[in-house]
Amino acid sequence: MFRDLLASLTLEEKASLCAGADMWHARGVERLGLPSWMMTDGPHGLRKQKPSGEGAGLFDSVPATCFPPAANLAATWNRDCLERVGRAVARECLAEDVGVILGPGVNIKRSPLCGRNFEYFSEDPLVAGELAAALIEGCQAEGVGTSLKHFAANNQEKYRLLSDSVVDERTLREIYLPAFEIAVRKAAPWTVMCAYNRVNGTYASENRWLLTEVLRDEWGFDGVLMTDWGACNDRVAGLEAGQDLEMPGPSHRHEKAIVEAVREGRLSEAVLDRTVERLLALASRVAMRRKEGFKADFDAHHRLAREVAAESVVLLKNENSFLPLEPKGKIAFIGEFAKKPRFQGGGSSHIEPTRLDDPWTEANNLGGFELIYAAGYSSKGDKPDPALIEEARKAAAAADRVVLFVGLTDRIESEGYDRTHLDLPEAHAALLEAVVGANPNVAVALSNGAPVAMPWLDRVPAVVEGYLGGQAAGGAMVDVLFGRVNPSGHLAETFPLRLEDTPAYLWYPGGRGMTEYREGVFVGYRHYETKKAPVLFPFGHGLSYTAFGFSNLRVPSGTVDGSKPVTVTVDVTNEGPVAGKIAVQLYVGDVERSVPRPEKELKAFEKVSLEPGERKTVSLTLDFRAWAFWSPERKAWTIEEGEFTVSVGASSADIRVSAPVAVRDFTAVPSFPDRDSILPEFRAFPVGAKFADILSAPFKASLGHLDPDSPEAKMAETMTEEIPLRAMLNFAAGSISEELTDAVIAVIRGERPESDLEGMKGWK
Ligand code: BGC
Repeated sequence: MFRDLLASLTLEEKASLCAGADMWHARGVERLGLPSWMMTDGPHGLRKQKPSGEGAGLFDSVPATCFPPAANLAATWNRDCLERVGRAVARECLAEDVGVILGPGVNIKRSPLCGRNFEYFSEDPLVAGELAAALIEGCQAEGVGTSLKHFAANNQEKYRLLSDSVVDERTLREIYLPAFEIAVRKAAPWTVMCAYNRVNGTYASENRWLLTEVLRDEWGFDGVLMTDWGACNDRVAGLEAGQDLEMPGPSHRHEKAIVEAVREGRLSEAVLDRTVERLLALASRVAMRRKEGFKADFDAHHRLAREVAAESVVLLKNENSFLPLEPKGKIAFIGEFAKKPRFQGGGSSHIEPTRLDDPWTEANNLGGFELIYAAGYSSKGDKPDPALIEEARKAAAAADRVVLFVGLTDRIESEGYDRTHLDLPEAHAALLEAVVGANPNVAVALSNGAPVAMPWLDRVPAVVEGYLGGQAAGGAMVDVLFGRVNPSGHLAETFPLRLEDTPAYLWYPGGRGMTEYREGVFVGYRHYETKKAPVLFPFGHGLSYTAFGFSNLRVPSGTVDGSKPVTVTVDVTNEGPVAGKIAVQLYVGDVERSVPRPEKELKAFEKVSLEPGERKTVSLTLDFRAWAFWSPERKAWTIEEGEFTVSVGASSADIRVSAPVAVRDFTAVPSFPDRDSILPEFRAFPVGAKFADILSAPFKASLGHLDPDSPEAKMAETMTEEIPLRAMLNFAAGSISEELTDAVIAVIRGERPESDLEGMKGWK
């Protein structure tokens, strides 16, 4: 389609298109009527630098709705919320003439310490991928592109431009890539942004395996691959690997490098042309969807931000129905966050909000009760201020009930650096001690982008996790505290008891040049559930002001064909007094596993809304991948035939109903035994079974004198069954010929007829 256009470009023009025009614009080809276009952060709202701004302009952007960040969006477990946020963000982009928004980020929360976890969805790839896909679909349906980032294995801020993420392929395939894969396959983002770090020795921006073999060839991505800002290293290698657009630009040295490489025959012009075609296609896509004079409805977007923020609030603990608060008597709001909320994280996603709700004002608007306030700490520092704490203690003592607003500060978590511990800032922890000492009737309302430890949990009746919530978080929190909204958020990550318990603890963040993902696929709940290790709050946890019952789990009977999707249904009933929503979670565990696999893995989920007393049948679909693991030997997704457990519940640790399912892998390529195979592997084939009997007969005969219950007999039997053929032959004292061995293997593979074996030495 762009062949003609391409043909009219000079080599220099083509090379110049491969980098941005400036910090935020891609180049167009003015003389051919293709204008330059703008991309900008993202992800949970528009961060468009004011025209006067310099550099990255982190604090100099036009006002835009600050929607809840991904940590919140994930806690909704609600695809519909994400889709609507995507649409709203896109409309603000159209109003500002932005063609592509830089997000969402779907990197997996490998450790709760990653400073950017607030911008990422989950420790689970299915949650991250499904929700990101919904956001992308919403945004792109309005005509604004997205940039799925940061591809891939960018799971820490420490040394993010230097570090080599050393991850085995199975772990990449099962944990770190599927969120990208789901989003690409389902929602086809217009662009993907590659990460700063190296992946197994090669920079993500130059990693041909990642960018071309996996992303494009396997998953079918046909959009533009851009670098993260400043992630381009060897420009020519990047192009060859499949990377299209260097950001920011311009980069005269890289333009020159491309031109020279083509002229000297080191880079095929066809490779450059392929990239330029993709860039032209994107530029024209953006141009076609431009809407001059478009106006966004900021009031409606603020309301949406509040609705979604409220849906993301997770009620972690609620002893004796302490919440919701009745609007009566004297209530103290303590903590500066009640008046100056921390509602977003720092870094490239930092949005200049159109307005800002705070809990104090929102609660006052409710009326009917006396509301008092004490700051308790100051945003200026994280050290305790005795005078502020004393004032707060008095306020707590004077009130009937207290809501304590604490959490993390920007100094502790942000893009650019990781946390080093899971504690609250000292000032918040000291305040909490003083307040619970003065009045035990305390609900803790948390504002933080990632889990904190709660050594104080037993001393408070209620804890509400608000994450960072966006510009309407203050109103949303009040909606939940006072029961105007029934909380339905669920954790998309585990809250550990201690940092030392977290799966990556020993290896995170690694050294200056490398971080080894030695915990493998055992990330988040996959680790805790498999090790049966206690946690503070499990993955998927989230309470409600009502109660839900699960019944009537129906799984397919007989043996399931693993290659085809199957449907599982379960009845969910609202057994309590108020309407509510719940994230119904389906986990699959491979009972007969011969490789280490997690005890259970989330394979489907659905957010369901129920009136009091209402029952709904929820349908969940499981496809091939629900049963499969990535086999490094076969280099393919593989199902091990046998029994699996399908369980449904309200968290990874709160399973309500489960059933066994037998799965057959109808797609499997039979794997034939070879010289490295053990006898049971030969026995799967009739000729192999006979061969195994011949091989083991002399051993059996020589061990005939042993008591079958003796340890010696057990050892001999185990050895005979677990010894590979090549070693077995060493003990066969020449009674089995090489010729026979090769012939048996060839017969099993169907390469020779069985009659060939007749008369061979050793074959009886
Ligand atoms: C971040 C990206 C962001 C880009 C542009 C980078 O430092 O990693 O997520 O989109 O800057 O601001």
